[in-house]
Amino acid sequence: MFHADIKDVAMVTSVRMAPPLPLIFLLMIHGVCSQKEGVIYSPSHICAVNDSTVTMRCTYTYPTGYNIMKVFWTKGPFQKDVEPPDLSNDTEYSQRLQYLGDKQQNCTVRLSHVTLKDSHMYCFRFITNTTTGKWTGYPGVTLTVTDLQVESPERVTEGDSVNLRCKSSCALTDRATFIWYRNSQPLTERRDRNNELLLQSVRREDSGRYSCAVDGHTHISPAVQINVMYPPKNVSVLISGSGVIVEGDSVTLNCISDSNPPAEISWIKGGTIVGSGRIFSISKISSDDSGEYKCKSINEHGGKYSDAVTLNVMYSPRNVSVLISKSGVIVEGDSVTLNCISDSNPPAEISWIKGRTIVGSGRIYNISKISSDDSGEYKCKSRNEHGEKYSDNVTLNVMYPPRIVSVLMSGSGVIVEGDSVTLNCISDSNPPALNFSWFKENETSAVGSGQSFSALQSGRFYCQAHNQHGSQRSDAVTVTVHHRSSWHEVFGITVECGAIFILVIIIIIVILFIIKKRRSVKNENITVKEISDPNEDTYTALV
Ligand SMILES: *[C@@H]1O[C@H](CO)[C@@H](O)[C@H](O)[C@H]1NC(C)=O
Ligand SMILES: *[C@@H]1O[C@H](CO)[C@@H](O)[C@H](O)[C@H]1NC(C)=O
Ligand SMILES: *[C@@H]1O[C@H](CO)[C@@H](O)[C@H](O)[C@H]1NC(C)=O
Ligand SMILES: *[C@@H]1O[C@H](CO)[C@@H](O)[C@H](O)[C@H]1NC(C)=O
Ligand SMILES: *[C@@H]1O[C@H](CO)[C@@H](O)[C@H](O)[C@H]1NC(C)=O
Ligand SMILES: *[C@@H]1O[C@H](CO)[C@@H](O)[C@H](O)[C@H]1NC(C)=O
Ligand SMILES: *[C@@H]1O[C@H](CO)[C@@H](O)[C@H](O)[C@H]1NC(C)=O
Ligand SMILES: *[C@@H]1O[C@H](CO)[C@@H](O)[C@H](O)[C@H]1NC(C)=O
Ligand SMILES: *[C@@H]1O[C@H](CO)[C@@H](O)[C@H](O)[C@H]1NC(C)=O
Ligand SMILES: *[C@@H]1O[C@H](CO)[C@@H](O)[C@H](O)[C@H]1NC(C)=O
Repeated sequence: MFHADIKDVAMVTSVRMAPPLPLIFLLMIHGVCSQKEGVIYSPSHICAVNDSTVTMRCTYTYPTGYNIMKVFWTKGPFQKDVEPPDLSNDTEYSQRLQYLGDKQQNCTVRLSHVTLKDSHMYCFRFITNTTTGKWTGYPGVTLTVTDLQVESPERVTEGDSVNLRCKSSCALTDRATFIWYRNSQPLTERRDRNNELLLQSVRREDSGRYSCAVDGHTHISPAVQINVMYPPKNVSVLISGSGVIVEGDSVTLNCISDSNPPAEISWIKGGTIVGSGRIFSISKISSDDSGEYKCKSINEHGGKYSDAVTLNVMYSPRNVSVLISKSGVIVEGDSVTLNCISDSNPPAEISWIKGRTIVGSGRIYNISKISSDDSGEYKCKSRNEHGEKYSDNVTLNVMYPPRIVSVLMSGSGVIVEGDSVTLNCISDSNPPALNFSWFKENETSAVGSGQSFSALQSGRFYCQAHNQHGSQRSDAVTVTVHHRSSWHEVFGITVECGAIFILVIIIIIVILFIIKKRRSVKNENITVKEISDPNEDTYTALV
């Protein structure tokens, strides 16, 4: 270095002592940078980050006996006959340029807030008190100002290893330390090489806006979006509304899935695809829509099902009917079970109604030994919290054999020989008895049939009533027949009043006739008594 300085000084000196004409001409007339003699830039190339402050180190020497009149920094292009401009007079630089050197040997200058436009070659120039003593240190310092760019792969998929590079257009010094940011937050991840950030096995949390900077400098690169792709995960189904779904409701299923890029959704119910899209709506739900639903979420990186959700559609009872255990005829003493069938969700409460009275509850209504009192109209009522419904009536018609059989007799049961008395057989049975047999007590064979019977003889009669379920006999009634021979007996029994009446009329007529006869005898005054006496027997006989 020292040696170089000596040489440079020697060369400058040689210029002064024996200037080769063309070179002097160039230096003086054109004012271009001279050869390196006299000015040393260290370093001669500077790579600076945008907006940073650059110090251009420089030393110069000039021949003894010269006096330095002016020192300044300038930049090309240099023109013939034009004095290179003093950068401190340039408004672009005046505020940012600071000369740190002196008028002896130090020509260091500082330029702050460099921008890309500042990329140039800068030269130091000094002017001495001799007309020929003007020097420009050429070539000067080459300043390259660079911005920073994050270089990243185009597509990033979960699990990849990703290298981000903070790129500059020139080589920054090895001492430069890079800083990385994700979403403006500094990162502490390990750095593989100085200007590289290594993301090993990226996760979706690594997505974000990445930018880089050089420590100690304000410039930050534009952010680059890293978008980590991943297959659907965390797939779940949300059901609109809360809890209970009742028939007729409007229900919306929402498939929530986390994926990048967004997944295609399809809906599956019991192995069948029933819809697509994130939202699956059922506008008027019916019980047929009950079941398990799954959504399937697919993107180019994979697919996933969720857990299934179950729709349990509630509805009020319907199709309510009564089943009777026994088909056909029900006979007293049978065991009969009524079963209420109904379709509802949730299961209904059942009550049993006979006529208008509640007689029981529960799906099964048991009548272990049915009696005729149990005959009637039955229905069941099926009820849950969503409504109620009645079944149709079923009729229980309990059959039973005749009972309470009795004989109804017209009159007292006392008749005159030749007359008859009508006996009626009264019975209670289901179905009504149509077959009656009449018996005389202590005789084995029947004396008659049919509901009524005319008794002609004395005796104790009873009837037996039959239906298909059995028979029952009545108590016996007594019929007494009187013979006509006895007058008193004739009166004894209440016989035809008409006969008696006619008899009385005849007697009256006879009496009237006798009275008339007696009057005619008085008138003749002849033997009345003699005539009347023989007639008296006749009267008696007639009466
Ligand atoms: C350089 O820095 C300046 C000042 O911060 C800024 O205005 C300019 O946009 C930067 N240029 C680039 C290319 O980053
Ligand atoms: C720079 O400006 C000063 C006045 O501000 C002037 O005296 C000087 O000559 C100028 N220098 C050049 C090289 O233009
Ligand atoms: C020149 O001046 C600068 C700033 O004052 C200083 O940092 C540098 O060391 C000096 N160079 C020499 C060779 O003296
Ligand atoms: C330049 O200045 C020096 C020192 O003051 C002096 O010795 C020399 O004669 C001057 N040269 C001219 C050409 O004026
Ligand atoms: C699902 O999401 C929750 C909350 O967002 C999260 O805590 C959980 O780790 C996720 N599970 C999976 C398997 O991604
Ligand atoms: C009753 O059930 C049948 C089939 O079991 C069904 O077709 C009908 O729609 C149901 N009736 C009502 C009112 O739900
Ligand atoms: C069912 O029976 C009840 C009681 O006997 C009666 O009031 C009602 O009208 C009947 N309903 C039908 C549909 O027959
Ligand atoms: C109803 O009666 C049947 C037959 O006697 C019997 O098996 C059943 O357990 C009974 N059910 C109820 C609920 O009493
Ligand atoms: C009436 O019932 C008796 C006894 O069961 C039977 O012998 C007779 O044939 C029945 N008569 C008719 C007409 O049903
Ligand atoms: C029928 O016989 C019973 C004894 O077997 C007897 O006591 C009863 O008097 C008899 N009745 C008639 C009407 O003969």
